[in-house]
Amino acid sequence: MASGFDRHMERDIASRASKIDAIADSAAGRVGEPPLGTPSRWPAGRLRLRRLDAGHRPSFAEDVRQGLTSSPKVLQPRYFYDDLGSLLFATICALPEYYLTRAEAEILHAHAGEIVASLNGPVRLVELGSGDARKTRLLIDALLARQGRLDYMPIDVSASALEQGSEQLLSTYPNLRVTALVADYAEGLRSIRDQEPLRAGHARNTLVLFLGSTVGNLGPEDRVGLLREVRDVLRPGDALLLGTDLKKPESILIPAYDDPLGVTAAFNLNVLARINRELAGGFDLRQFRHLARWNAGKSRVEMHLESRRAQTVPIRSLDLEIPFEEGETIHTENSHKFTVEQVEALAAETGFKVTRVWQDSGRRFASSLLVAR
Ligand SMILES: C[S@@+](CC[C@H](N)C(=O)[O-])C[C@H]1O[C@@H](n2cnc3c(N)ncnc32)[C@H](O)[C@@H]1O
Repeated sequence: MASGFDRHMERDIASRASKIDAIADSAAGRVGEPPLGTPSRWPAGRLRLRRLDAGHRPSFAEDVRQGLTSSPKVLQPRYFYDDLGSLLFATICALPEYYLTRAEAEILHAHAGEIVASLNGPVRLVELGSGDARKTRLLIDALLARQGRLDYMPIDVSASALEQGSEQLLSTYPNLRVTALVADYAEGLRSIRDQEPLRAGHARNTLVLFLGSTVGNLGPEDRVGLLREVRDVLRPGDALLLGTDLKKPESILIPAYDDPLGVTAAFNLNVLARINRELAGGFDLRQFRHLARWNAGKSRVEMHLESRRAQTVPIRSLDLEIPFEEGETIHTENSHKFTVEQVEALAAETGFKVTRVWQDSGRRFASSLLVAR
């Protein structure tokens, strides 16, 4: 017999499923409508959830085929973030070893007022890879205190993180309006740029957030490409607040990506579970091991999944059989570590100037304000 807890979970899952369906409806053309289940909850226009057309970007299936048939094998980190992966990442942020979230939150707690005061107001807020947007609240508080109301435009590949994050923000802030884009960073930014001539609303200036050192997941060329896309949606004087994890000893870095509870291992392995769920894959997760390695030459922590034995894994919907040698790895993520000088050089190369850098008390993390030139 179902317990009260089970019934609650069933209702919760059913309600979330109907909302995600609504996002899919948006993909089918009815974009801009509030999700099903919420229209009476939010007055018109307060919540718009849109899934953008991926255009020419390869699908999950195409990227899995390409990544697992190349040598060495790779999977892109964007594919960690299905519903379960987004929840696992939120859990990683609560781990004692994952100092990045607490260090950045400390900076935002102490300096959100100052950060916001660096921009001419009123501003609209755009965020890349917002996730559950918990740290974003510190900036939303500061902006609302200054300008009374705010347009917030998060861009994330995770529909569930965007949907839950937006719901929670709207419940807290009556003067917030959210336009959430389920999209890759570049597609989301282009959509914002293309709608610029239609822009209504009171905010003339823009603050873009890219928090969590997520920029470190990109290689040097992709980093420059993405920051140029950001610069393209901005006018001179607008700004990007960029969170970057700073170089530090391996003895601190590795536990942040290989915690003793095994949450990061579960987060990494979930990409194989996602292939099983979505592409009829046959990965036996127990036959793969999570690895975190420091690559000093490239100043990055790498995550890999190592095959514990020689094996062949079928992926039925791709009609593929993937052979693995014992000890062979799939490279799933890079997390580059920076110096403040590298951030300044990146800014200069992409049409920005760093005007302020804030660090936490342990000097582990930097939040840099990049002003568009
Ligand atoms: C490392 S998490 C950071 C989340 C949050 N900003 C924080 O600081 O805790 C990266 C976030 O970016 C999203 N993401 C990853 N790759 C992306 C991509 N290519 N385009 C859009 N979002 C992406 C993920 O879904 C996830 O929410």
